[in-house]
Amino acid sequence: MPCPPQSSDELVFFVNGRKVTESNVDPEVTLLAFLRKNLSLTGTKYACGTGSCGACTVMVSEHDPVSKKIRHFSVAACLVPICSLYGAAVTTVEGVGSIKTRIHPVQERIAKSHGTQCGFCTPGMVMSMYTLLRNHPQPSEEQLMEALGGNLCRCTGYRPILESGRTFCTSVSGCPQKGTGKCCLDQTEDDSSPLGDKHDMCTELFAKEEFQPLDPTQELIFPPELLRMAENSEKETLTFYGERVTWISPGTLQDLLELKAKHSEAPLVLGNTSLGPAMKSQGHFYPVLLSPARISELRVVSTTSDGLTIGAGCSLAQVKDVLSESIAQLPGEKTRTYRALLKHLRSLAGQQVRNVATLGGHIVSRHCYSDLNPIFAVGNTTLNLLSEEGTRQIPLDRHFLAGLTQSADLKAQEILESVHLPYSQKWEFVSAFRQAQCHQNALSHVNAGMRVLFKEGTDIIKDLSIAFGGAGPATRIAHKSCQQLLGRRWNEMMVDEACRLLLDEVSLPGSALGGKVEFKRTLLVSFFFKFYLQVLQELKAQLKLLSLPESWDSQPHPDIAERFLSALEDFQVTIPQGVQTYQKVDSHQPLQDPVGRPVMHLSGLKHATGEAIFCDDIPRVDKELFMALVTSTRAHAKIISIDSAEVLALPGVVDVVTAEDIPGTNGSEDEKLLAVDEVLCVGQVICAVVAETDVQAKRAVKKIKITYEDLEPVVFTIEDAIKHNSFLCPEKKLEKGNIEEAFNNVDQIVEGEVHVGGQEHFYMETQRVLVIPKSEDKELDIYVSAQDPAHVQKTVSSTLNIPFNRIACHVKRVGGGFGGKVVRPAALGAIAAVGATKTGHPIRLVLDREDDMLITGGRHPLFGKYKVGFMNNGRIKALDIECYINGGCMLDDSELVTEFLVLKLENAYKIRNLRFRGRACMTNLPSNTAFRGFGFPQGTLMTESCITAVAAKCGLPPEKIREKNMYKTVDKTIYKQAFSPEALIKCWNECLDKSSFRSRRMHVEEFNKRNYWKKRGIAIVPMKFSVGFAATSYHQAAALVHIYTDGSVLVTHGGNELGQGIHTKMLQVASRELRIPMSYMHICETSTVTVPNTIATAASIGADVNGRAVQNACQTLLKRLQPIIKKNPEGIWEDWIEAAFEQRISLSATGYFRGYKAFMNWEEGEGDPFPYYVYGAACSEVEIDCLTGAHKKIRTDIVMDACCSLNPAIDIGQIEGSFIQGMGLYTTEELQYSPEGVLYTRSPDEYKIPTITDVPEQFNVSLLPSSQTPLTIYSSKGLGESGMFLGSSVFFAITDAVAAARRERGLAEDFTVRSPATPEWVRMACADRFTDMVGSH
Ligand SMILES: Cc1cc2nc3c(=O)[nH]c(=O)nc-3n(C[C@H](O)[C@H](O)[C@H](O)COP(=O)(O)OP(=O)(O)OC[C@H]3O[C@@H](n4cnc5c(N)ncnc54)[C@H](O)[C@@H]3O)c2cc1C
Ligand code: FES
Ligand code: FES
Repeated sequence: MPCPPQSSDELVFFVNGRKVTESNVDPEVTLLAFLRKNLSLTGTKYACGTGSCGACTVMVSEHDPVSKKIRHFSVAACLVPICSLYGAAVTTVEGVGSIKTRIHPVQERIAKSHGTQCGFCTPGMVMSMYTLLRNHPQPSEEQLMEALGGNLCRCTGYRPILESGRTFCTSVSGCPQKGTGKCCLDQTEDDSSPLGDKHDMCTELFAKEEFQPLDPTQELIFPPELLRMAENSEKETLTFYGERVTWISPGTLQDLLELKAKHSEAPLVLGNTSLGPAMKSQGHFYPVLLSPARISELRVVSTTSDGLTIGAGCSLAQVKDVLSESIAQLPGEKTRTYRALLKHLRSLAGQQVRNVATLGGHIVSRHCYSDLNPIFAVGNTTLNLLSEEGTRQIPLDRHFLAGLTQSADLKAQEILESVHLPYSQKWEFVSAFRQAQCHQNALSHVNAGMRVLFKEGTDIIKDLSIAFGGAGPATRIAHKSCQQLLGRRWNEMMVDEACRLLLDEVSLPGSALGGKVEFKRTLLVSFFFKFYLQVLQELKAQLKLLSLPESWDSQPHPDIAERFLSALEDFQVTIPQGVQTYQKVDSHQPLQDPVGRPVMHLSGLKHATGEAIFCDDIPRVDKELFMALVTSTRAHAKIISIDSAEVLALPGVVDVVTAEDIPGTNGSEDEKLLAVDEVLCVGQVICAVVAETDVQAKRAVKKIKITYEDLEPVVFTIEDAIKHNSFLCPEKKLEKGNIEEAFNNVDQIVEGEVHVGGQEHFYMETQRVLVIPKSEDKELDIYVSAQDPAHVQKTVSSTLNIPFNRIACHVKRVGGGFGGKVVRPAALGAIAAVGATKTGHPIRLVLDREDDMLITGGRHPLFGKYKVGFMNNGRIKALDIECYINGGCMLDDSELVTEFLVLKLENAYKIRNLRFRGRACMTNLPSNTAFRGFGFPQGTLMTESCITAVAAKCGLPPEKIREKNMYKTVDKTIYKQAFSPEALIKCWNECLDKSSFRSRRMHVEEFNKRNYWKKRGIAIVPMKFSVGFAATSYHQAAALVHIYTDGSVLVTHGGNELGQGIHTKMLQVASRELRIPMSYMHICETSTVTVPNTIATAASIGADVNGRAVQNACQTLLKRLQPIIKKNPEGIWEDWIEAAFEQRISLSATGYFRGYKAFMNWEEGEGDPFPYYVYGAACSEVEIDCLTGAHKKIRTDIVMDACCSLNPAIDIGQIEGSFIQGMGLYTTEELQYSPEGVLYTRSPDEYKIPTITDVPEQFNVSLLPSSQTPLTIYSSKGLGESGMFLGSSVFFAITDAVAAARRERGLAEDFTVRSPATPEWVRMACADRFTDMVGSH
């Protein structure tokens, strides 16, 4: 303990209007932990703990001592130290509204606009919007986008969330005709669409008129007590002593300086957005923390004759406002540095982080990726330092940034008081550049600040300054290069010279963190080229106003050719627009019958108020303990010893659970729950620590000492696995026709390779389980976030060696699964159950995001080779595909995924001679598992890549090849299952039509002729997706329906609510069957007690099969009631139920569905593996920036065959959500490993799922007019997975644009396809003089 133990001051703040007084507060506790544990306010969610996902967003209100106003701002509660809240008011989602009292318009609208699916992100979304509305009751759409930029959602695809927010906006720029049933976007090339009468179609998914208006006078006021505290604030120092850390918050600047002199090693905590993550993940520890939050001098902004001085304690959001104001007021030439800063302040992190991260914290942290420091550095910024000894100024220059010389740095006792930002001058130009994996909320790969000053009235460089971020361990200033360019003229010759100098000076070692060295070096020079063009443009405009000097006239500058101007524009964030079209229900359908109507998700309102209970929201149970897992740090090694002696002596630690504690079986021989003797990957679970609190358990796991002896071989990649003959299961093969003969009779043959990267599920709710042992008969209650509770039950049973009937697994709802919660929760549940039986205590196990990403695996990466033979007209005659997936170290679902992959490879194409082979590789990586689409999204990317390769060879557009080879009539698949492609053709034609494909293809070509540095691409892909499992027993389902004597109905079925709306659909079914409104009905949970022996909720089949079971149960009940109804036809439901009870008629029934017939005979290569197909088509258009690799999505049109949708709002939600998830797979989501097999990308900072700014600017979805299929419930179709693959239309649009760039540059078509098409891939594929320069350097 650094300070003598004394009594802490009292921490006073408000939460939701209630005063909180804490006299023993621990400075290490965050607001999130405090809300959830101390106040039981579980509406605020944990999903990442690093400020990067927005799930924990709450609003903080503070009295600003400088402006004397109340400031409301959103924060990420996971980063806010509880002690920093002294005198603040916190509003959580519970404080905004509740279904028990009154819901807030924000909550109502997000739910009714279908903006919630699993609902785990929803409280955070609500709080971001609510805070926006507190500050701007009628926000602009730009403000809405900005407010939501830091919130991730993995389910919805964001469109409906934005839609709900837009209902508050002033000017809504959507289609004015939307809602009239006819929208301008509905106009097609051929308005005589063959697909039914347009008047049956509808574009309204919710009724805006029902929304209650926003009344800002109804909001919670800032507590008067806090106002009084702020106004009469005593300037005394507050001190809070924790177990390990002391928090000191001085009341005056003088006290702060004294404290800083006394505790010179103690950091200042401002926003805690740099310090917090470093303490959490990098093990930094400081016994004393100094908080200058109450020092108003650090927040002062002043204007001097030559610039602005901004207090170091101002948040980045405040800096943004100050700069915007100056830009609006001052002449443009003075604010060039400010505009450059503003550009980066818009995309830096999310709003929650910008609201608390301070200018001082940003500068002093000196992160290598800092977006602002390069601009500060080139902008001649001065840092005003303060200590007890007085003030001092130092420049924010290369010496400061490198932090190497003491005189150029802060001394230990100094603080940064303010930052002086000088105005730019007349002949001075400043620009900023950044390129990240995606536009918003992503750290940049490389960024830059550049400034040039010309000799007055000339183009001669008088001063030049260039700084880069991301290109080394600190911000790099290219000082030498700049010096050598002084006196040079601003022309093309200078550009070449400058690029050469920059590449020489800013070297990046091959081993640079994060890799991507060639790409980063290419960006250095590409940015400079952009700067050159920007300045040239502005300089010429400025010089035109003067009479030109002689030197200028003698060497006239050519105008920048119009084709090159496109290098100058950055992609702007635009607000997505779109139309969702579906068929109205038949006008004769009774109003009470909800089937086919866009009914809101049953839990929608509870998601929005935070009242929906997820697994970790279950209140702490008596004597509960917490478990944390110890995982392997080696990829392949022998375990020599596990030493837990030190850990067992730690405070709070209760036990360590190892394989020896397992009373039953430890998984199977090849898939052990807890490793014994040998580990097969980094992240494999070896043992677990049980402690009184989560913090104690997590600290303790780091202290378990495991000694290893490395083993050979270590295999990570598919290529290595093939070399070592390392496979998990035998090859799966399908063949049709005579492939060898066919290759002899074709005009051309092309061969190529396809690489598809893996994907992390990134469900917002990480894996979690609560096991409660009961006192009798070895009974256990298990609450788990799982897609297959029966599998959890089975695994726990074999692990503990107790029968199934003692184990009750409960799933209330799951915060996203996407396949990742089919297999994995069983192992976690079993390990927790071992802990529970060993200790006799309830055990809670909640994986941190880092551990979840490390341990649980994801989508299988794929590598494949193809050979395709075709005629010159594009007719494909033979296709031979051999592919491998990376299964990781255990079998899991890899064999099944291989089978599905091979079965589905043909997609929508009829090719007479085919050979498909697939194999799962065994590697030393965590086992990969089920993931939405189950191999289809990877496999079909191969097939579609063959199509584009054929198109390139034939000189025809890919859509022609697709059309030519598509199934057209009733036919048989490669595995000889008969089907009709009628709906496929309809989707294709409708998509071509709705997207105005042909005319837009021409516009794209025109655009590409006119623009050299930006290229557009367009692509349309068809889809035939088979639904279900290839085994009849996997399609069975059961339900249990009780009618109580008050008439209310409890429905239970075997499907789990993952956000896909299965419970909503089940009540729609029950409502139709029993002919009573849904309001009579309830679903409580899915449980192995009520419906046993269930199958996983997966394969898009959940609503189908469970719907049939619910229907069956309801029909049984109705049949029993018929005689009573007949007797009293005018009676009401309650009367009939009462009478039935009187007459001893059972009011409870089970329902059962035996399943669709499905089988596959792999020996014969034939079968009926799938009950039915979903067809669809998607067209996407993108624009790429050839200099940076960035892209923007201009438009996507999807047409999907949902047959008779049970609920069009839910189905469109599934299509949009899976499309965006697919887009992530194919464009931004990139897993990276160290050479030792350690996953680098373990947080949303490093692994980029799509954000709100990634939604296509125009995003239209339409469902084909209904058709009948007798097989499924009310002729509906399961749409959970199919949309994933349609995300590849964006991938193919990007590759189309890249191909256009390569053609123009005279480069050969490259037939190696790599997904994801990241900015790195795009930039390097658009090879040019800059990539050449890098290559030759
Ligand atoms: C999710 C997330 C996304 C991000 N994205 C980006 C991004 O895209 N681009 C980017 O550039 N940055 C990004 N950042 C980094 C962010 O800009 C910095 O973390 C932030 O600016 C630090 O400010 P702070 O007030 O939180 O500092 P703190 O964490 O409070 O402090 C950081 C350090 O600064 C010192 N310090 C703070 N103030 C002073 C002072 N006045 N005098 C002396 N020392 C001081 C402290 O002692 C401490 O060592 C991101 C951060 C997060 C969490
Ligand atoms: S949990 Fe706080 S931002 Fe993700
Ligand atoms: S609804 Fe957004 S994460 Fe599930």
